[in-house]
Amino acid sequence: VMIPETGSELERVADIVRRTSGVVVGAPQLPALAAAIARAEPGLGAGGLLLELGDRTRGPALLDRLVDEVTVKETCFLRHRSELETLDWRGLLEVARRRGSPVIRVWSAACASGEEAYSLAMLAGQAFAPVPPPVAVLGTDIAASALRRAAHGRYGARSLRNVEEPLRERYFHADPDGLVVSQTLRELVTFARHNLVGDPIPPVGRGPFELIVCRNVLIYFDRDTVDQITAGLERALAPGGRLVLGAADRVSGKPRVLRRAAAAAPPRPAPRAGARDRGRPASRDVALAVPEPGVEPALAAAETGRIDEAIAATDAMLAADALDPVPHFIRGLAEHAAGDPEAAAASLRRAVYLDPGFLRAAFELGRAHDALNHDAAAARCYRQALDVLHEGRPGVRRLLNPREAGDIAAASRGRLRALGAARTGPAA
Ligand SMILES: C[S@@+](CC[C@H](N)C(=O)[O-])C[C@H]1O[C@@H](n2cnc3c(N)ncnc32)[C@H](O)[C@@H]1O
Repeated sequence: VMIPETGSELERVADIVRRTSGVVVGAPQLPALAAAIARAEPGLGAGGLLLELGDRTRGPALLDRLVDEVTVKETCFLRHRSELETLDWRGLLEVARRRGSPVIRVWSAACASGEEAYSLAMLAGQAFAPVPPPVAVLGTDIAASALRRAAHGRYGARSLRNVEEPLRERYFHADPDGLVVSQTLRELVTFARHNLVGDPIPPVGRGPFELIVCRNVLIYFDRDTVDQITAGLERALAPGGRLVLGAADRVSGKPRVLRRAAAAAPPRPAPRAGARDRGRPASRDVALAVPEPGVEPALAAAETGRIDEAIAATDAMLAADALDPVPHFIRGLAEHAAGDPEAAAASLRRAVYLDPGFLRAAFELGRAHDALNHDAAAARCYRQALDVLHEGRPGVRRLLNPREAGDIAAASRGRLRALGAARTGPAA
């Protein structure tokens, strides 16, 4: 282990964690890092840890334990299900066969305790039923403790909260310690230790893959690391294969990467059309997420890169009402997608000015600043997005599907962490 020469002892440990695992531990998380050190090796402290890490025999195992303690392993079965349900398993099988493989090779990268890997096997099972699915799923993670739980295959009710009864019956059985993954599922999944930052991508002797799923991990890394990993994952795909990043992970890289990753992302479910949402309090209900007519096609154009169409539509909307924040927001999205984050920031700033509770606009303004490397401004916007959510201000649900609020919160926190500017307190 290379031990840095400068900074407080705790900062030096944070630097080692970042270089080893990619996980950025910003200043606000240093107390949590101190607690992680105490769990990894009680009584040692940052100074003692730095000394021990230099020890050839004990150092590597201690570092593994520390990284294991630092990582966030929150997950569940069928998490962000919509991102997985759009997968075309039969199409993936065609892709595999073209390469002479009788099975679809799947990689769940950073799979934590295995729920994502088993979920993919389960979805493939549903797609190919009644015959056994031709898939081989590899689940990997940096954290040995998570992989032990994955191999164990026993889960609590919370972990299965998204799994409906027929799927539970088919793929799990109960024992006194919880719900146990069935043998049919286990046979489709293997687990291995793999560090996305330190190990080759794809893992040695594995790949190429028809499907790679990497979610809720890039948010902990800095932009350069995200770029390197995303490029590696793309190279690990078989031609015609599919890379699925999480909604939050897609906004963690530089704009170039964002666009590529967005192109590989599943289509978003279209919001329902209908009622107007303007000027009503957010607390009413989900129906407030529904935009007024005309907004939806413009938004879809901006989100799918049909820039000219989006700009033309927002021109018309602004001619009708120049003080409507929505067209300014859509225009900003289009400008960012067109590779002009500066223009995007100006449009999005107008949207936020006109409606300070416009959550998505605040978040997208953060992304535009991120793309311009305006770290402080980006951090301010992400904080504003979190504040808007926290306070449940009017406008919070503008142009949002209900579950997107959670994604925006996770992405904002992730970016704040990676920018080293997270808010203090439990929200981070
Ligand atoms: C929040 S979990 C995500 C689990 C799952 N992908 C999901 O979306 O539900 C993040 C996982 O990333 C893992 N992780 C962190 N840094 C990693 C690295 N450098 N290489 C591989 N896994 C890493 C952590 O150990 C943790 O299990």
